[in-house]
Amino acid sequence: MISRVAIIGTGVIGASWAACFLAHGLEVVATDPAAGAEAALRQAVAAHWPALESLGLAPGASPNRLRFVASPEAAVAEAQFVQENAPEQLEVKRALYARLDAAAPAEALLASSTSTIMVSEFQDACAHHPGRVVLGHPFNPPHLIPLVEVGGGRLTSPAAVQRALGFYRGLGKQPIELKQEIRGHVANRLQAALWQEAFNLVRAGVASVADIDTAIAHGPGLRWALLGPFLNLHLSGGPGGIGALFEKPLWAATEAMWRDLGTVRVDAALGAGVAQGVAAELAPHDSAEMLRQRDAVLLALLRLKAAAGALP
Ligand SMILES: NC(=O)c1ccc[n+]([C@@H]2O[C@H](COP(=O)([O-])OP(=O)(O)OC[C@H]3O[C@@H](n4cnc5c(N)ncnc54)[C@H](O)[C@@H]3O)[C@@H](O)[C@H]2O)c1
Repeated sequence: MISRVAIIGTGVIGASWAACFLAHGLEVVATDPAAGAEAALRQAVAAHWPALESLGLAPGASPNRLRFVASPEAAVAEAQFVQENAPEQLEVKRALYARLDAAAPAEALLASSTSTIMVSEFQDACAHHPGRVVLGHPFNPPHLIPLVEVGGGRLTSPAAVQRALGFYRGLGKQPIELKQEIRGHVANRLQAALWQEAFNLVRAGVASVADIDTAIAHGPGLRWALLGPFLNLHLSGGPGGIGALFEKPLWAATEAMWRDLGTVRVDAALGAGVAQGVAAELAPHDSAEMLRQRDAVLLALLRLKAAAGALP
């Protein structure tokens, strides 16, 4: 059972992970070299706490189980699991992993939140136990979003990946296993495909920024929050499900549409046009209230999904 966790880097993601681990009753030791980092971390944890309370705290969970220390070595000295959230720069990660590996107990797992760097690119900086370095990529904010992408690099032991999956599952997360390394992992690549076409549609003048947002947020996005792309397709296939769908004329037409999707560069003109579109979309709304309602609806949805056991 993992009960002592270290957080390395306490910016946006590290602070949110810290709140998540604390809410599950773990002891958290954190470090970050920035001036004022401890105060900022405690403030962020306090800000995240009401949402975590409303989702339900583990027995004994408390923000007081957070300790802040001055160095990565001190943070990991007694850790069983290390969640690294340092800046997205390969050289920073490499230098840090050499230190974490030298200072952490041999059996501690080292998990990186990295969004775009592959574990193989930095785990060889570990002179002692590179096999315990894994990917543990969350979705922002990790204290609320259940997805964690887990995988290994060339030197990672399969057992380390399985232990990390088990740890995140024990926190009520929904980890997925990446069977090979790929730039951007899985969920960000799926989002990237959608963003590319959204910009392409604006560039081509097909619809306004606001209408493209509506097309997702009031259309497929509602179902995608409940079931993934394949299960949604399965349900569009009628009684024969997804297998029957591939035999229908609609399927050939769907694949033809894939070949028609655009690739686009967001140059200055397109960027400015999209920014203007977003400003126009937001003009009738109070942004602070929009954020508050987004968070409240997300919490309600998380509670509903947790109670809906038949949704995979
Ligand atoms: N922001 C996101 O949406 C998001 C989502 C998922 C994953 N991530 C990943 O999480 C990691 C952190 O991203 P972020 O958005 O929290 O960045 P951030 O800039 O908010 O935080 C990075 C923190 O690391 C600290 N830091 C700098 N050098 C350090 C060092 N040598 N050791 C320890 N800490 C150090 C900084 O002071 C800062 O507080 C990145 O790898 C990023 O790819 C980010």
